[in-house]
Amino acid sequence: MEYIKRILITGGCGFIGNQFVRKLVNEHKDWLIVNVDILSYAGVADNLKDIEEEENYRFEYGDVKDEFFLSMVFANYAITDVIHMAAESHVDNSISAPMEFLFNNTVGTVTLLESARQYWTHAGGGLEGHKFYYFSTDEVFGALDADGESFTEDSKIKPNSPYSASKASADLFCNAYIKTYGMPIVISHMCNAIGPYQLPEKLVPATIERILNDEPIIVYDKGEQVREWIYIDDVLDAAMTVFEKGVPGEAYNIGSGEETQNIMLVMKIIAMVCMRMYSDYKRYEQGYQDAKDKIKYVENARPGHDFRYSINHDKITKELGWKPKVGLDEAISKTVDWYYNNWDWVESIKSGEYKKNNEKYMDGLVC
Ligand code: TYD
Repeated sequence: MEYIKRILITGGCGFIGNQFVRKLVNEHKDWLIVNVDILSYAGVADNLKDIEEEENYRFEYGDVKDEFFLSMVFANYAITDVIHMAAESHVDNSISAPMEFLFNNTVGTVTLLESARQYWTHAGGGLEGHKFYYFSTDEVFGALDADGESFTEDSKIKPNSPYSASKASADLFCNAYIKTYGMPIVISHMCNAIGPYQLPEKLVPATIERILNDEPIIVYDKGEQVREWIYIDDVLDAAMTVFEKGVPGEAYNIGSGEETQNIMLVMKIIAMVCMRMYSDYKRYEQGYQDAKDKIKYVENARPGHDFRYSINHDKITKELGWKPKVGLDEAISKTVDWYYNNWDWVESIKSGEYKKNNEKYMDGLVC
């Protein structure tokens, strides 16, 4: 079949990546989707079991820092577009292992940029008509205080953690490639996502898991930090919009307007998990109280903990016509439902079973 686009997407076995790959594969049968993933601890090959036989889907096991591997992928599939979602994304890990973030997030992005530039310039008919989408984070803008103005696309890049510094560095390389080579790059900066398939190292799934396991519910500091949360379905629509309609050279913020303090979010998760666990009200009340008593406030769990993120998404709404549809309560409820009904997924992650399955995909062959 002649495909209109042949897209290399990175990180397609991760939290957002697998759901975006599925959407691309299912909604665009005339696009070939080539998923490049290194299947690190954050990649779960089985996430895509349901689509791996689809005709317009390919999986390539490999590293975005490996120039030779990338050149093979670009050439073998005659890649027309790139969607770069692969990243190490857990701030706490970046504090204990900053170099990993520099290599995987910054060097990885630059290697991919350079591979795309070389291939498109020399074998892809020039840079025009291609697109490179870099999926970045609002954390590159640093932190706000309680009443600071939400970040816009023009806010200063001012990262605080090794994670956000590694993403911000990649942002700067994207800008350099736009200015220096005229690379057709679009960038998005997104707030915190909530939804299925997120590893239980992150606040939302960690909290659900801790409640269901009757473990202490860890809240950093006093839980006063504020995050803006967007539901995965909105993330996927926004990413599709930026990829399809985003103007090369431009950046777009993706947000929901749904800000809340961590402790408020944790309380809502407790309430929603308990509603599913206990059908009679008395037992619910008791369960809710017991879970609340299990909250454990931990000081200095995250040195340099950013106080607040808030992102203004007016530009994507006005210029590309996207706006969020799912409110925070609905987002939490849907997410809790998914974890509640897919507990075997969590268990496979916790037990490390998924790593055994990943090994089956690590044949290192291109094509
Ligand atoms: P996280 O899910 O790690 O996302 P990010 O750091 O990218 O915003 O954390 C969200 C917030 O929750 C952040 O302020 C740190 C806090 N947090 C906890 O209070 N307890 C936890 O167990 C975790 C993982 C995070």
